[in-house]
Order: sequence, then structure tokens, then C-alpha cells
Amino acid sequence: MKEINLTTKIRVYLIDECTDVEKKLIEAAKLATKDAYVPYSNFSVGAALLLGNGEIVTGNNQENAAYPSGLCAERTAVFFANANYPDQNIEAIAVAAHYKGEFTKDVITPCGACRQVLLEVENRYKKPMKILLYGGNDEVYQLDSIKELLPLSFGEEML
Ligand code: THU
Repeated sequence: MKEINLTTKIRVYLIDECTDVEKKLIEAAKLATKDAYVPYSNFSVGAALLLGNGEIVTGNNQENAAYPSGLCAERTAVFFANANYPDQNIEAIAVAAHYKGEFTKDVITPCGACRQVLLEVENRYKKPMKILLYGGNDEVYQLDSIKELLPLSFGEEML
């Protein structure tokens, strides 16, 4: 028997320790929670993307009475970016969540389906994407690539 141990590197920063660009991206993600359409969960998620050209685009979760037809904030933002700026890679993504009147104390982490979509973005543009996960106690988890969140991933190289 052989054992394989995988590790995930997460750097935990206070918001004040983040760079100005990181702070701007996190603020954009927080602001994007305001326009989430969440009549079923009341859990508002915002995602902000820093594109290769320096522009920031945002998305939020969009729910549906037929629950699986809704979409998470991360994929809403990524598909918007890919549809409108197909030539721009995504340098970084920030995610924040708002629930019952406040930002969630724990950082919000992308669901499995969103991780798979973020992996596709890294493979498509051949560049790792920085991940910034915001927690309401003003902590920010920073990861260097989606691969940290999706080990043993299935990507184009498997096909
Ligand atoms: N949600 C996101 O938008 N992003 C995540 O990372 C996790 C979950 C959404 C889906 C649903 O609209 C609500 O949050 C509750 O699960």
C-alpha cells in the first residue's frame, strides 16, 4: 500500500494587508452581492474578476424556482467575462457572501462545479488565477491557483 497526501497552500491575510488591487477586487465582490437574485436561499454571493487588461467585471448568484436552473456567482461572472472579453485571461477572482444582514464570518469557497469551470479558465488562458476568498471578520484566504482547491482534477490533458 502506498499513501498519497495532497496539501493545499492557503495564505490568510487581514484585509489591511492586501494590496490596493486586491482590496479593490474584494470590494467589487462585496458590492456585487447586493444585486444577487436569491429569493430561495437569501444567500447572496458576489464574485469579481480582474481581467488581463486590468478591467474588473462582476457577477452574482441568480436563482430559479426550478432550483438547478440557477447559477452561482462565480460562474455568472466567468461566463460573462468569457462571452464579452474572450481575449482576456482572468488574473484573479474575489468572492464574498452576504447572509442575514452581514457578510459571512467564514470565508466563502466555490462549489465543486464552479471549481471545475475555474480550472477550465486557467487551462484556456494557460495562466493560474489568484483566488481571494473574503470572510466577514476581514480575513482573506489567498490561493495561487484553482488547482489548490481542485486537486486530482479532470482537465483537457485527460482527453
Ligand atoms: N452559491 C454561489 O453563488 N457561490 C458559491 O460559491 C456557493 C453557493 C450560491 C448558490 C445558491 O444560489 C446559494 O449560493 C446557496 O447555495
